[in-house]
Amino acid sequence: MKREKFGSRLGFILISAGCAIGLGNVWRFPYITGQYGGAAFVLIYLLFLLILGLPIMVMEFSVGRASRSSVALSFDRLEPLGTKWHWYKWFGMAGNYLLMMFYTTIGGWLLLYFVKMAAGNFKGLDASGIKNEFGELMQQPGIMIVCMIIVVAACFAICSIGLQKGVEKITKVMMLMLLALMIILAVRSVTLSGAGEGLAFYLVPDFAKVKEAGLMEVVFAAMGQSFFTLSLGIGAIAIFGSYIDRSRSLTGEAVCVTVLDTCVALLSGFIIFPACFAYQIESTAGPSLIFITLPNVFNHMAGGRIWGTMFFLFMSFAAFSTIIAVFQNIISFATDLTGCSVRKAVAWNIVAIIILSVPCVLGFNLWSGFAPLGEGSTVLDLEDFILSNNLLPIGSMLYLLFCTSRYGWGFKNFMFINMHAGNVPIIGQLCREYQRSSGIKCAQIDWWRFTQPNSVGICENTGWMAHGHASECGTSVMLYPVSYTHLRAHETRGNL
Ligand code: PHE
Repeated sequence: MKREKFGSRLGFILISAGCAIGLGNVWRFPYITGQYGGAAFVLIYLLFLLILGLPIMVMEFSVGRASRSSVALSFDRLEPLGTKWHWYKWFGMAGNYLLMMFYTTIGGWLLLYFVKMAAGNFKGLDASGIKNEFGELMQQPGIMIVCMIIVVAACFAICSIGLQKGVEKITKVMMLMLLALMIILAVRSVTLSGAGEGLAFYLVPDFAKVKEAGLMEVVFAAMGQSFFTLSLGIGAIAIFGSYIDRSRSLTGEAVCVTVLDTCVALLSGFIIFPACFAYQIESTAGPSLIFITLPNVFNHMAGGRIWGTMFFLFMSFAAFSTIIAVFQNIISFATDLTGCSVRKAVAWNIVAIIILSVPCVLGFNLWSGFAPLGEGSTVLDLEDFILSNNLLPIGSMLYLLFCTSRYGWGFKNFMFINMHAGNVPIIGQLCREYQRSSGIKCAQIDWWRFTQPNSVGICENTGWMAHGHASECGTSVMLYPVSYTHLRAHETRGNL
């Protein structure tokens, strides 16, 4: 089956950015920054983005591009024979599910806030009234579950319409509108009276606060946030590497996605913190932060109800684009592993995800006595902790090792795939080296013109490797992503 390609380069960048930009930027970034002391945390976070986040994104893209599959099969396809890298697929898949277990609930809150804003529910409320409104919502599991189900069902519906038609179109428009709206809101928030203190909190590092929270804890939180915001470590973004045009270097695309993602996160800080300080809202409020801060901003803005409605609408779509990307992954786990149809995968997973998302909702009310991470913590905090502070960093390190170690896929293969495949000198060199070391004839060819028995060809256009057997020669050839390990693997298996 031919993989669908994205319609345009902008489409690709926006859709990868759509996977990366989501609650991590607008909901998680401000509340974690608030909890860990502001500017100093932001600095450490930016450092991690640069030294780990960006390179690891390139690596995930490369693994996706070379294996042309989701994490369910990518390691199986690329690992050297006899190694166990593919065991990670179970963690990667679990990570995708775990993320959805709380993400869909927050997505539901956003959707509800969109409706409430449009209905004018916050009109005339002061800061404490707005806080109470959120508190009351937390006591209503029924409403939260309904909203969560709407989110899950809508996103799966979009997935089953098809990648190109459904996701690309909607995401492109919404992302651009969200960006524009956030700039307007940031300007409004920064010009509020009393905004100065918030700006100082956000921009002037105070390392005493880092000490107070515990250096290691802050460093871990910053690292977790940098992986979370870029969707790294569980193969969530890898798949997009296989959709992108092979003539482009993945590094360039990763830089674009990272820059966009970081801009949105930083912008949301400019919206939230000045407003927090202007309306005397604790910046340490945690997951509720944007929901108790933003309605205040809108209440004090001319045309605030319209701005607010638009904000929660676009924000819901940013969350949706992430959910859709992850659902797409989850669907491909099922189709890759069991060969079942997309329809069947969707049907099973709708049920599974809805059930799995319930504990997060109940954690705020019926199960509020369960405080897994200390007083006041909830199921959401536990799920987020397991994912962001454990799975994502461990998974990211694994991708890093896989792509750099000779016991894994190896640096050479990784760099080859990362650079664009149309780069003939590299292919030529690969052929020559292979021929020298193996004695097997190797040529640059178009695979459909493959005629030499027992030889290896590397397609100039796609960078894929074909090998033919004497018997099959000229009629059918097998295609593999170019990699030394593959060539060697097939030699050892006696395929060549
Ligand atoms: N990056 C997404 C966001 O910022 C969250 C995410 C994390 C998605 C991990 C996939 C994998 O909202």
